[in-house]
Amino acid sequence: MSSGSLSAFAHAFTMALDGHPRRISPKYLYDAEGSAWFARICELPEYYLTRTEISILRAFGREIAHCIGQHAELIEFGAGPSTKLRVLLDHLQTPMRYCPVDISGEHLKSEARRLKTDHPWLRVQPIEADFMRPFKWPAVRRGSGPRGRRVGMLLGSSLGNFEPDEARAFLCNVHQMMPGGAMLIGVDLVKDPSVLHAAYNDVAGVTAAFNLNLLARANRELNATFDVGRFFHHACYRPDERCVEMHLVSQARQVVQVCGYDFLFDEGETLHTETSRKFTISELQHLASSCGWHPGPVWTDVQGWFALQWLESQESRHLLHA
Ligand code: AVJ
Repeated sequence: MSSGSLSAFAHAFTMALDGHPRRISPKYLYDAEGSAWFARICELPEYYLTRTEISILRAFGREIAHCIGQHAELIEFGAGPSTKLRVLLDHLQTPMRYCPVDISGEHLKSEARRLKTDHPWLRVQPIEADFMRPFKWPAVRRGSGPRGRRVGMLLGSSLGNFEPDEARAFLCNVHQMMPGGAMLIGVDLVKDPSVLHAAYNDVAGVTAAFNLNLLARANRELNATFDVGRFFHHACYRPDERCVEMHLVSQARQVVQVCGYDFLFDEGETLHTETSRKFTISELQHLASSCGWHPGPVWTDVQGWFALQWLESQESRHLLHA
């Protein structure tokens, strides 16, 4: 863990506790332990997102590979487990290299090693970075063969965790970073609230553990004194905003120390840890268009729960016939 990311967490966390209401960016949920909890969430029967997205990748892998083209440079923003990439690799004969970009360095490296073992011909270059900020792009070695275009991937409905202006900034930046490139975006769609409620309030309590790990992380890294048992997980769908909000709620009036400062929590006071926005396809296309992207094909599951949207940086006629 670099001191840079440590102080970023210290800064963000204390700022959050000073705020009214108290809220922090969801990216801090993903230390090594948080990433491991998230991997378990993806296996839950209630958490349909990952499973559904993978089923779409399986069903339309050929078409997606056709859009990606030959010798592409794949950049995955917020790469968790490499399961989804592996599905695509079954259909892609010739990716030039794969660059997973993630904030959780340890997780990134172990996944890269596993991927290399199974696909020795694939060039994997993990980038430990916060992709919401500018980061250094690894150079492509000379003589590494033909170069296709850059294809960005933002899967797992990560776009839904951004604030609307952050989402726009991200899509605009990526558009500039990859002239002539393309983008594959996976988003969770608006649906029956009871399905959403169950997905973020699983019976086994794994999502609660994932959320509460933020307080445990503060104890580990910021000398905080949270009694994790005196907070509980709360997640609810807000139909007006079309998002699921995740909070940590204080069970009692209590004082907690963080970085040497005292913070008072009233009974029922919350720390807002994540917003998970749900989209309609036209909403997503509208957002992407406002950032210079041209919407191409959309692939969904039969229930219409999740969508993969293809975006082109330029108008490309051949896609209309794909
Ligand atoms: C993969 C980050 C989009 O919002 O559904 C899972 C994270 N939070 N359960 C999501 C998450 C609670 C997930 N993202």
